[in-house]
Amino acid sequence: MQVHAAVLRDRAAPFALEHVELAAPEPGQVLVEIAGTGFCHTDVLPRQAGFLATPPLIAGHEGAGVVTEVGSSVGDIAVGDHVLLSFDSCGCCTNCALGNPAYCETFFQRNMTGKAQDGPGPVVDGAGHPVAARWFGQSSFASHVIAGTRNVVAVDHDLPLQLMGPLGCGIQTGAGSVLIALGVEAGSDVAVFGAGGVGLAAVMAARVAGAAMIVAVDLHDARLELAKELGATHVLRGGADDVAKQIRKLTRGGVQYALDTTGAPAVIATGIDALRPTGTIGLVGAGSRELVLAPSALATGKNVMGILEGDAVPHVFLPRLISLWRAGRFPFDKLIRTYPLSAINEAERDAASGVTIKPVLIPEGQ
Ligand SMILES: NC(=O)c1ccc[n+]([C@@H]2O[C@H](COP(=O)([O-])OP(=O)(O)OC[C@H]3O[C@@H](n4cnc5c(N)ncnc54)[C@H](O)[C@@H]3O)[C@@H](O)[C@H]2O)c1
Ligand SMILES: [Zn+2]
Ligand SMILES: [Zn+2]
Repeated sequence: MQVHAAVLRDRAAPFALEHVELAAPEPGQVLVEIAGTGFCHTDVLPRQAGFLATPPLIAGHEGAGVVTEVGSSVGDIAVGDHVLLSFDSCGCCTNCALGNPAYCETFFQRNMTGKAQDGPGPVVDGAGHPVAARWFGQSSFASHVIAGTRNVVAVDHDLPLQLMGPLGCGIQTGAGSVLIALGVEAGSDVAVFGAGGVGLAAVMAARVAGAAMIVAVDLHDARLELAKELGATHVLRGGADDVAKQIRKLTRGGVQYALDTTGAPAVIATGIDALRPTGTIGLVGAGSRELVLAPSALATGKNVMGILEGDAVPHVFLPRLISLWRAGRFPFDKLIRTYPLSAINEAERDAASGVTIKPVLIPEGQ
């Protein structure tokens, strides 16, 4: 069927709205009409020279929509189901079997190349040339997508589906990092570096966990204001030389848990410095610059933990976040500003400049 999609034709080019041809779902796949899709910082990684995924590519990996067709062997997923799309995993490698699909042995091939695991992939352009359309098993910057049963989570019909997509990656990552990966305990102190979509989800989750002090650090005053509204007990402007010292003073010796969402080596080093002995810092920011540490930086029992997707199992964790949202304890919708899918380049600019925390793109006719 003919659908429309925002195609990245060149690493440096704006996204181009195009009509493309989408194949019918294969066994284990479903066709989803997208109601809304979040824009995550990871969607701009294919712009970096040498990155795994190469244009032409349809990015987008925080889709939400309605199942309109199913292939064979899709279990209990049915036409009409409202679904959130999350990351893909194989379901049978050791880490998947252990319940850690975010560390699936094929995570990078399935999620970060945009390529199908076998066969040509579901999309060709107007000239009949293939366009990579399996980014995070979905490529949701489109009116319709093919997704697999592993990365489709059915949700209740009364939810505002257009706004729910960001739960599938950025929001899940921030919240899962705090609630699952770091396992923040009630009464402990937490510092979150970077108050974007991921960092603010971490702040909300730290409040849910009952953390005593929640320190948010960012460069934008407006983001720090929102962090306070969402649960930060203290906010600090990043970039100053003494951020770690200020955090150690506030928390009488340092935080037990920190989360870096900036990927900046200097910020990570500050985060380590701000930990109390035995504290742990989680790293989720996509940084490519090297982190150089003296072994003594970790000598007091400090830990550094890389985290993908908040260690979450989407089929378990997304319904929990939705329950918290229903209870008014996880108001992630406050981060969202909607744009038509055709304004994707404006959304990208606004996310980069800091004007918008979490853009959500709405395809025409939704
Ligand atoms: N590991 C994962 O599974 C996963 C999942 C989703 C996103 N990510 C990555 O997480 C990162 C954050 O995503 P996001 O959507 O929240 O991005 P974002 O750009 O909205 O947020 C990053 C924030 O960091 C702040 N920042 C930058 N430099 C800083 C400094 N020196 N001190 C303090 N704050 C600083 C920015 O002002 C911004 O608010 C991205 O790199 C993204 O690719 C990782
Ligand atoms: Zn696997
Ligand atoms: Zn993401």
